[in-house]
Amino acid sequence: MAIPVIDFSTLNGDKRGETLALLHDACKNWGCFLIENHEIEGKLMEKVKKTINSYYEENLKESFYQSEIVKRLEKKKNTSDIDWESAFFIWHRPTSNIRQIPNLSEELCQTMDEYIEKLVELAENLSELMSENLGLEKDYIKKAFSGSNGPAMGTKVAKYPECPYPELVRGLREHTDAGGIILLLQDDKIPGLEFFKDGKWIEIPPSKNNAIFVNTGDQIEVLSNGLYKSVVHRVMPDKNGSRLSVASFYNPIGDAIISPAPKLLYPSSYRYGDYLELYGKTKFGEKAPRFESIKNMANEH
Ligand SMILES: [Fe+2]
Repeated sequence: MAIPVIDFSTLNGDKRGETLALLHDACKNWGCFLIENHEIEGKLMEKVKKTINSYYEENLKESFYQSEIVKRLEKKKNTSDIDWESAFFIWHRPTSNIRQIPNLSEELCQTMDEYIEKLVELAENLSELMSENLGLEKDYIKKAFSGSNGPAMGTKVAKYPECPYPELVRGLREHTDAGGIILLLQDDKIPGLEFFKDGKWIEIPPSKNNAIFVNTGDQIEVLSNGLYKSVVHRVMPDKNGSRLSVASFYNPIGDAIISPAPKLLYPSSYRYGDYLELYGKTKFGEKAPRFESIKNMANEH
C-alpha cells in the first residue's frame, strides 16, 4: 500500500480536480499523505535539519544518554510506559518563544523563522483545499481555529536516538495527534514512523527530496464530523541510527470553540411526516439538498 502523494504543482492546471479528489480520499481513508512540489526550498529545509541536528549533538545527546529512560532500558524492566525520544517544543504563532529557548543559536532561530513562515502558507493553503473538499467556505478551517488570536503554530522538535534494544521500547507510543494539520519534515535516512491502517502498521519511509509528510489531528476529525480521520501512529526506535523529526502543527488557538461544521451534520429533530412530504416532491433528486431543506424546516420549528 503506497501512501497517497499530493503533487502541489498540479493544483493550478487541468489536473486540479484529480489532485483535489486524491487529497479528499487521503483525508478520509488514510489521515496522512505526502506533499511534493510544495515550493519550500530544499536548501532551507536542509538547513533546518542541519542546524537542529547540530543543536542535538551539542546540547541534548549527552544528557539523553544519562537520563532515567536509558537507565530503565538498560535494566530491561518497566519499559512499556517510556518514550525513547529527546524532544522540545517551540511556539511560533501567535507569539514566538524561540529566542527564550536556551542555547538555540541565532542561525537556528532565523532558519526556523524563515521555514515556519513558508510552512504557515502551506498549512493555510492546505486548510483551504480541505475546506473546499468538504464543501465549506474556503477559510472555514482557518476561522474555526482562530479564536481571539489564532490559529496557533508550533513545532515539536524530536530526535529518536540510536537505541540498543529497539524491541523493548517505543520511540513514541501509539497515539493520535490532538490538533489540526501536522506537517512533518523528517529524516532522509533513518525510518521509524508507522501509521495504523486497515488493521496493519504501515511503515512511513524516510522522506526523499524534502517531501513533507502531513497528518490530520483530532480537531479535523471533529470539525469534519468524522469524515476526515486522525489516525493512530507511533515511532519505532532504530538500532543503527538516530531519526530526526521536525513536526509543525497548525492548530486551533486555546480559546477557539470547536464543533462539527453544521453543514456536515445530518438533519435532526424533524417530524417524519414532514420528511415524507418533502420526499414526495424531491424523490428523484439528490438527497443532500433534501437533507439541507429538512434542516432548515427543523430550525424553523
Ligand atoms: Fe503524533
